[in-house]
Amino acid sequence: MLFIREKHGLKIHVSAVRFRPQPCCHCHVERSETSLSRPLVFRSKGSEILRFAQNDTYEMVWTRREKMKYDWREAGEEWSAPWGSSAAQWTGTIFPRIRDFLPTGTILEIAPGFGRWTHYLKDYCQQLWAVDRSSECIEACRRRFASDSHVRCYLNDGRSLSMIPDGAVDFVFSFDSFVHPDREIVEAYLRELGTKLKIGGKGFIHHSNFGEYVNTTRERLPEALAKPLIKLKLLDWAHHRNPSMSADLFRALCAQHGLHCITQELVNWRGRRLIDCLSLFERSESAPQNPTKIIRNPNFMREAVRIRRQWRQTGA
Ligand SMILES: C[S@@+](CC[C@H](N)C(=O)[O-])C[C@H]1O[C@@H](n2cnc3c(N)ncnc32)[C@H](O)[C@@H]1O
Repeated sequence: MLFIREKHGLKIHVSAVRFRPQPCCHCHVERSETSLSRPLVFRSKGSEILRFAQNDTYEMVWTRREKMKYDWREAGEEWSAPWGSSAAQWTGTIFPRIRDFLPTGTILEIAPGFGRWTHYLKDYCQQLWAVDRSSECIEACRRRFASDSHVRCYLNDGRSLSMIPDGAVDFVFSFDSFVHPDREIVEAYLRELGTKLKIGGKGFIHHSNFGEYVNTTRERLPEALAKPLIKLKLLDWAHHRNPSMSADLFRALCAQHGLHCITQELVNWRGRRLIDCLSLFERSESAPQNPTKIIRNPNFMREAVRIRRQWRQTGA
């Protein structure tokens, strides 16, 4: 019996399967391929059922759960593979986009996981609060940052920031986490940020823009047609981006909660479509002076390739 990584709350045990995983962000299993010639029933942790294997591919089907689970054996470092390392991704991609707001007094990081970005953010503030709904992550962050007395890690219920005082945050950050949750979770956090950020405080949140694509012909293609085209790399796929969120909606929700999007950079994520968005916003008391600057950047992954090459050549 072969154990395949636990992912999205699923522990998958399969026998007699040969896997050639196609890495996909956090999802290690869902587009793996098998050499199966017969359908299989996969048994997963809990009550979820995985469906079959057909035509050399299998597909996971799971009942929606409150919580996805991640494989933390590499602490999320493997998600930086397109950039070469998290250090390269931070230096080449993330830091240049937020450097204008650092250093600062208080940073709030939502959904830090095992602290892939906390590790860098902590050096740019007087105090850092990290909030995640997973006790495994919060315990890992507490261990990892035990010697950094200005870092405090809190477990939450996946939507509330009640442990953070009102008007206390200079800069809120989240990367590689808001791409999955539903609109209502994103909205719950934006509502909280409307009070937790200082007036003039800034935020940088990486979230789904997949909502822009849900009604396209591409998304209406029958799976039987889409799959081979994806395999041939003629189509790309959604990487589990949440279909209920888009850049437009995020901007509108910000506005409802006293936040103004300054820029929104729509980026591709391991494909061609701009399924992700990097929103930079601020808490403003008055009506915004300037409209949101919207940037459509189809070269985000090219940027990653360039950074990886550069990092390999120079180590910096
Ligand atoms: C893919 S990991 C990314 C972690 C980290 N941002 C990184 O880039 O390494 C997603 C993280 O989001 C957390 N998460 C998911 N939904 C959340 C929610 N509603 N509230 C707080 N944390 C959440 C998970 O527990 C996990 O730590």
